[in-house]
Amino acid sequence: MAIERTLILAKPDAVQRGLVGEIIKRFEARGLKIIGLKLMQITKELAARHYAAHTQKPFYPGLVSFMTSGPVAAMVLEGPKAIDACRKVMGKTFCTDAEPGTIRGDLGVSRGMNLVHGSDGPEAAKKEIELFFKPEELLEYKRAGDAWVLNDEDRA
Ligand code: RTP
Ligand code: MG
Repeated sequence: MAIERTLILAKPDAVQRGLVGEIIKRFEARGLKIIGLKLMQITKELAARHYAAHTQKPFYPGLVSFMTSGPVAAMVLEGPKAIDACRKVMGKTFCTDAEPGTIRGDLGVSRGMNLVHGSDGPEAAKKEIELFFKPEELLEYKRAGDAWVLNDEDRA
């Protein structure tokens, strides 16, 4: 089982709606470990680099405007298959399609204002973590409870 890292953003709508704690709670409760965490304002330049894959899409201008409209809470989470685990906790892209039990399915009704971002694969995760965090902002530490979250097979 690969221990992975992923970039999660609680988007401007989540910050404005006071849902940052609720969102972090769901990832923490699953057992994922927070190794980086900060409130920040995304610039147009950072949004463009982060969403470079979507530059040509019709929704791109609205997406950049939304992502730069207020602060986001950025975090790096770590755990076994963390990238996919987080995407499952988030739910489908549009809140309208997301299942109950997921962040988007429980907390939103919008298509574009979907509360949370999560890296969609190992390459994207590496690129996005480097975009949002300096190496010294990521902390390696042991949690007292990890013996009850991960066994040797999970860590291998
Ligand atoms: P994200 O990158 O934000 O984690 O979301 P995602 O992987 O689930 O979705 P993605 O396809 O990467 O799209 C990025 C964000 O663009 C907005 N979007 N709007 N109106 C539209 O058709 C449309 N499609 C995408 C959403 O905010 C989505 O999260
Ligand atoms: Mg995406």
